[in-house]
Amino acid sequence: MDHAPRYPSRMRTPQGGIFALGTASHAYVEFDVSDGRKKRHFVRAISSLHEPRTTMGAVNLVAGFRPELWSKAVPDDAPAEIEGFNQDVMGIDGFVMPATQHDAVLWFSGSAYDVIFDVARQAIAELADLASVGEETVSWPYQRDRDLTGFIDGTENPTLMDAPEVVLIAEGNPGAGGTILLLQKWTHDTAAWESVPVVDQERVIGRTKLNSIELKENAPDSHVASTDQDRFGKIFRRNMPYGTVTDHGTMFVGFSADQQRLSTMLESMAGLTTGVRDALTRYTRPLTGAYYFVPSTESLRSLIGGA
Ligand code: HEM
Repeated sequence: MDHAPRYPSRMRTPQGGIFALGTASHAYVEFDVSDGRKKRHFVRAISSLHEPRTTMGAVNLVAGFRPELWSKAVPDDAPAEIEGFNQDVMGIDGFVMPATQHDAVLWFSGSAYDVIFDVARQAIAELADLASVGEETVSWPYQRDRDLTGFIDGTENPTLMDAPEVVLIAEGNPGAGGTILLLQKWTHDTAAWESVPVVDQERVIGRTKLNSIELKENAPDSHVASTDQDRFGKIFRRNMPYGTVTDHGTMFVGFSADQQRLSTMLESMAGLTTGVRDALTRYTRPLTGAYYFVPSTESLRSLIGGA
């Protein structure tokens, strides 16, 4: 009997930076096309960018596109039914998640901000004739693996062994080897959060603060109940703290092969699923929200070939 694994003859390769854990410095630069007639040109220009190849001080580069822009430029390799963050999510009690969709995002990550700074500036310069920067955020890890709420973030993430299956569109489908990214910047009301005793903060998150153990009795409005992956499906988070000493929060960076998992989690957090709003949203609020399609490297390369 033949036990050799059977892979499709040409497996698509995801953009490597999605899975490049452990990097200390990040920048997310979102772009808007300046001239609507040059959208295809812009998609090709982004696809032609590449990260430096040195083994030390290198940078991971992940490129994502507004879903509608990608499906116009590459209709044969666009996943069906994905769309940009085109409308605000109107939650209960006046809570709003704003839609701030841009045309593309470049996510740079590496060992230190000096290399990110240079590589990001160069990319912006290379795209300058076609697009301008609409939003820029710089991120860095806090106390190894903690969000700026002080809680460990990522505990329930899939391992790197399982993450590709959670994240990547399966072979044989349009957009195979690609993924959907939700990028959402949340600003914390640090004074309000820090006035809450730790035991109550733990009820808000649904886990202990010191070592991220799930509480035995979880309140229906806890963050982990609002985003329960057994209910909504699995996602892979690469969140990072962002900001300054006086103005900071979480850059939510979530990937999934299925956009609905991400969008239903947001609706649930906003209270639209059960009428119960995620307690965490009393202490932090989203400033931005955008979905990007992050194509396979083969898709990007095929565009350069056609340039
Ligand atoms: C300020 C924003 C946010 C903060 C500070 C935050 C923080 C956390 C923390 C501390 C945990 C518990 C540990 C863990 O499993 O990682 C967690 C879990 C989780 N969060 Fe968030 N999060 C935020 C926004 C979001 C958003 C916008 C989504 C989805 C769109 C989301 C999805 C999840 C999921 C899926 C889990 C794991 C739930 C499970 O146990 O199955 N989070 N988050």
